[in-house]
Order: sequence, then C-alpha cells, then structure tokens
Amino acid sequence: MGKLDVLVANAGIAESVTLEELTEEHFDRLFSINVKGAVFAVQKALPLFQDGASIILMGSVAGVKGTSGFGVYGATKAALRNFVRAWTIELKDRRIRSNVVSPGPIDTPATQRFSAEAFQKLTSTVPMGRVGLPEEVARAVLYLASEDSSFVSGTELFVDGGRAQV
Ligand SMILES: NC(=O)c1ccc[n+]([C@@H]2O[C@H](COP(=O)([O-])OP(=O)(O)OC[C@H]3O[C@@H](n4cnc5c(N)ncnc54)[C@H](OP(=O)(O)O)[C@@H]3O)[C@@H](O)[C@H]2O)c1
Repeated sequence: MGKLDVLVANAGIAESVTLEELTEEHFDRLFSINVKGAVFAVQKALPLFQDGASIILMGSVAGVKGTSGFGVYGATKAALRNFVRAWTIELKDRRIRSNVVSPGPIDTPATQRFSAEAFQKLTSTVPMGRVGLPEEVARAVLYLASEDSSFVSGTELFVDGGRAQV
C-alpha cells in the first residue's frame, strides 16, 4: 500500500552468558539483532510512516531487572527503552508515537525450549504465579498501535504479571 501506520519491532534473541563467559562475539550478536535490528528497521521505515503512525519496540523486564546470565540481553532491552524517549521528540512534528512493550516470562517457543526445572523457576519469579500468553502481549501492542493511546509516547508498558513491579 506504500504507507505504514504501525511498526512493531519484535524480533529478538535471549542467550544466557555470565560476565566471566562473555565474548565479544556474543555481545555483538545480541546487540546486532536486538538493538541494531530494531533501530535500523525503524529508520528504514521512516519515509513510509503516515503522520500519526505508531512505533512499538519489544523490550523485556530484563531491561530493568538483574538476572544472572542476562546482563547483555538486559542491556539490549534497556537500550531500546531510551530510543523511544528520543524518537518521541524527534518525530513529534509528524505526530509519530514511539513506545516499548516489556513482557515478563511469556509462553513462546523461546521459553518452551527451557527445561521443566528452568520453566518452573521462571514462573516462580512472577507475582501473578504464571507465565503470560502471547495474546496478552499482543493486546498491549494493539493498545499502543491504536488511537486509544493517542497521548501515550516515550513510555514502557509492562506486561509481566507484576514481575518488575512488586
Ligand atoms: N518469551 C518471553 O518470555 C519474552 C520475555 C520478554 C521479552 N521477550 C521478547 O519478545 C520478542 C519475541 O520473543 P519470543 O519469546 O517470541 O522469541 P522466539 O519464540 O524465539 O521468537 C523470536 C522471533 O525473532 C525472530 N528473529 C530472531 N533472530 C532474528 C534475526 N536475526 N532476524 C530476523 N528475525 C529474527 C525469529 O524469527 P525466526 O523464527 O525466523 O528465527 C522469531 O520470529 C523478543 O524481542 C524477546 O526478547 C520475550
């Protein structure tokens, strides 16, 4: 159609590596996919955005929580958090809004690869006592994509069962 109303930069990977184990290769891989991938996708889309479009980046509770092995992953998500602050100002004349959705543990192929023990441990970190469903994240994305959030920009919407809040 030649125009974009909404862009959701969702692709991302999580890998557990402690500071001792960390390599430049791992660091570059995560930042390349999670940060460069999202940021340059948005840049590439800039000419296509309609005035009033909505940009949504997929963050994570890891961006504000410390978890052993997830320092680099968390840093990539914290980086995304700041981009939407800057873009809110940079894109204001086109009324383009930019926000982050930050899920807690969600039942996706990524978490389905965990062992039963690791999955149980993950669940135990969620105050609501369960992992979330992809649909529950999608509904938050839909809110930020729609006019219902017409005065919401530069923010981070957590969909985490209270994981980063309590
Ligand atoms: N699941 C959770 O608990 C959780 C929690 C917080 C945040 N998140 C975030 O939510 C997003 C989706 O995660 P998920 O749980 O759905 O993970 P997933 O099941 O592993 O899916 C990851 C998605 O990213 C795509 N992707 C990965 N590397 C890519 C690359 N280099 N180029 C293009 N696409 C690539 C994959 O495409 P292919 O299938 O083609 O490889 C896949 O569609 C990620 O940003 C993740 O950090 C997830």
